[in-house]
Amino acid sequence: MTVNCISAFPCPILQFGVDGFPDQRDQIIRNIYSIKETTESVSYSNEGGWQSPKQSPTPNILFKSVNSIMTQFLNEELQYSIGNVWFNVNSEGSFNHKHTHPCCDLAAVFYVKVPEGDCGRLEIENPNYFNQVKLLDAMKPNIKESMIAFTSMWLNPVEGCGFIFPSHLTHRVSKNNTKEDRISISWNMHVN
Ligand SMILES: [Fe+2]
Repeated sequence: MTVNCISAFPCPILQFGVDGFPDQRDQIIRNIYSIKETTESVSYSNEGGWQSPKQSPTPNILFKSVNSIMTQFLNEELQYSIGNVWFNVNSEGSFNHKHTHPCCDLAAVFYVKVPEGDCGRLEIENPNYFNQVKLLDAMKPNIKESMIAFTSMWLNPVEGCGFIFPSHLTHRVSKNNTKEDRISISWNMHVN
């Protein structure tokens, strides 16, 4: 007898790339550093490094792509809006504590500069971890693998790419163990 394991109640994590990013990469990096030079870091989830205060949704190349992604993802009659946007420069040794993005529907990150080596990975916790901890431990490895039924998943940053995920998911960024800065852009979104 075969058993079909239905992977119900999905937790959509969108992975995307921005066409044409390499041509604008260096200018985007210069813009972020020029803001950093004159702006104090805010302190939220970051431990070390620099996190900007709220910015307008820039660069255009990124938010044009986001519009295309959301058009593909949402029902035609649904609208979305961009909430807070901020820039992150995680220097050597810095990281982001576990956090969620309350009061919005989706959280997002885009990687502008990713140094080679262990510069910090994004860990997203399974929202069912607490409720299903014994079950998750007990499931056969091949089923766990096929359903991504782990206690958390680790996502590698890739320059010119990013992730959009439900904002209630607890996540963190591990320590930048390289000498170079790791630069990303984060933002929140509302589904209206
Ligand atoms: Fe976050």
